[in-house]
Amino acid sequence: MKIFSGTANPKLSEEVATLLNLPISKSEIVRFGNSEVRVRIEEDVKDEVCYVIQPTSNPTDAHLMELFFFADALKRSDAKKIIAVIPYFGYARQNIQHRVGECVSANVVIHFLENIGFHEIITFDLHDEATEGIFTVPFSNLTSFSVLANSIVDYLGKESINTKDIMVVSPDQGGVERARRFGAHLFGTDDFPITVIEKNRDQNAIHQSTAVAIYGDVKNKIVILLDDILTSGGTMFNAADLCIKKGAKRVIGAIVHHDFAPDAVKNIEKSVLEKLFTTNTIELKKEQMNSKIVESSIADLIASLLR
Ligand code: R5P
Repeated sequence: MKIFSGTANPKLSEEVATLLNLPISKSEIVRFGNSEVRVRIEEDVKDEVCYVIQPTSNPTDAHLMELFFFADALKRSDAKKIIAVIPYFGYARQNIQHRVGECVSANVVIHFLENIGFHEIITFDLHDEATEGIFTVPFSNLTSFSVLANSIVDYLGKESINTKDIMVVSPDQGGVERARRFGAHLFGTDDFPITVIEKNRDQNAIHQSTAVAIYGDVKNKIVILLDDILTSGGTMFNAADLCIKKGAKRVIGAIVHHDFAPDAVKNIEKSVLEKLFTTNTIELKKEQMNSKIVESSIADLIASLLR
């Protein structure tokens, strides 16, 4: 087995390789002055099973192209099987036509990945499970909820975790099932209430949404707002403000993927969120670290699967 790393999250790739007692296999990734990229495999991969770890996070298109070129270079080097480990799957939110005339980007990306030669795809907490149906190669959608839940348990203290004081809240209608699955990891039971916020997104504007109503009781509760992705933060901040307005005692955010827009970190710091728990599906840059963001690693989950 060989593990290759793109440039999107080399730290995560290193962690996985260390856990597997393997080196990161040698490749050369050159970015030219005109922004084109070239990938070269620098070791013998003939008849090997090769994994390429690369979240397709911001800058999404650049990271995607690198991944495609890895597949081509490995195929030309006679690798037996080429498997993409895409901890964060960019464009997953564009999986339907939200408005007439739009492209369905997730569909396009999946076709590219398959046609370029990936034999298998592994990802984490894909935005919409229905997208799995588009894949025609073996596909695994792992979940990081155990890691996120453990990190919150450590922060709040095991004795504080109970279904009376803590309310898991989905910041939009689409996240109900996700909130339920996360709650089961957090509480260790399926028997708990959840609260749902009704979100209205303006499809004609970028990053504009409002939290219009809340269904459930958050008064005097410790709220855990659970979402898959935070980009602008609008969804999370509006939901957090509404929970505070409805009497929540504390509001903690939990997301899998921090695919941040430029102002997100500054706005997290200013928000009513006490903490924002997240994972390292995407690399957290030095300048993005702040006192509220707590990152936990999914390396062990990837290593276990590869093992
Ligand atoms: C939407 O359905 C997703 O689950 C997230 O709620 C959303 O994409 C987050 O984006 P933003 O942080 O820009 O509101």
